Amino acid sequence: MQAPSLLQAQSYSAWGRVLEMVIADCWPASWCIIRGISLPMSIRCHLLNLSIVTALPLALIAWHFPYATDDPVRREDAIREFYELSYSGSSPTVVKDTELNRERETVRERLDIRGRVARFVELYGLQGASVLDVGSGRGQLQDVVADYTGLDIAAEVAKHYHKRFVAGTATAMPFADDTFDAAWSIWVLEHIPNPEAALSEIRRVVKPGGLLYLLPAWDVPPWAAQGYEARPYRDLSVVGKLVKATIPLRKSEAYWIATAVPNRLLRSLAGSPTQLHYRRLEPNYSEYWQADSDAVNDLDEMEVAMWFESRGDTCLNCLPGWWRYLQRDMPLVIRLKKGPGRDVSPS
Ligand SMILES: C[S@@+](CC[C@H](N)C(=O)[O-])C[C@H]1O[C@@H](n2cnc3c(N)ncnc32)[C@H](O)[C@@H]1O
Repeated sequence: MQAPSLLQAQSYSAWGRVLEMVIADCWPASWCIIRGISLPMSIRCHLLNLSIVTALPLALIAWHFPYATDDPVRREDAIREFYELSYSGSSPTVVKDTELNRERETVRERLDIRGRVARFVELYGLQGASVLDVGSGRGQLQDVVADYTGLDIAAEVAKHYHKRFVAGTATAMPFADDTFDAAWSIWVLEHIPNPEAALSEIRRVVKPGGLLYLLPAWDVPPWAAQGYEARPYRDLSVVGKLVKATIPLRKSEAYWIATAVPNRLLRSLAGSPTQLHYRRLEPNYSEYWQADSDAVNDLDEMEVAMWFESRGDTCLNCLPGWWRYLQRDMPLVIRLKKGPGRDVSPS
């Protein structure tokens, strides 16, 4: 006969009993068997173990699900003001002297954005095409093609252009349907509170058969706004320290696969045309700790590719078959196939 354990001999509150069951009786299941507990208890232990083992990943997947969709109201005043002030040099935003911010300065050169866009132009023979640059900033790409139009929400940047520049928002563009042969947009969609409206507008103003090159910052992490990655532990509250401690795990490839891939599978079950789903982020307009502290969205590239494909367009650089579920950190090259019944809004 088995002697009652010391724990069992004591009296417990309900929570104490549950805790004991989880820690002592049921984790791991073998512990129950060693203790010679009867079969029904052992089954109960297995079930409990199973539920703990499955509940955690399911909770993580649910936490990472892109629940947000466009808001019927366009809220762009804050982002417009933020960029107008940044470009005028009178921004109250404090850009922190962090290593991640210092690295940011060289990222553009390292990624060779101009070279990449130039190769896109060359590959698809767009040298003579009329091209729209959505969220064109200071117009770094205005000489990549001859027939260039820059569009940016911040009118302040107009002084940097020797090519055509139009001040306006990507979500309600001041251009007629089918105006351009191609469009590109670099590091912009993650700053637009209603990104689906911007995609619809890009589709509207580019001709059928036209090409898009979209490179937002995909997968902006939720800790960017408060700079948890950039700041030292000593600067952070207890909660901040805990968040920071989780970042290496949350940045790992395994974590991304465990959370993004199941959500991509779930989203690929959505009807056609799909509604764009993303995760909304709280931007930090007062302190800039690291790249994308000011981002308002966390966008997934397969979600964006599916958005176009569900309207009949083609992703020219998406990986084939199941491999696309693993594709990340790449620009999307889309060929539009607009036509009757194609350019529809999601129901
Ligand atoms: C991170 S900057 C990138 C600028 C430029 N594409 C580049 O690569 O240098 C983001 C740009 O998007 C612009 N922007 C933000 N929201 C916008 C909107 N709704 N419509 C048009 N431009 C927008 C900002 O003014 C800013 O110039």
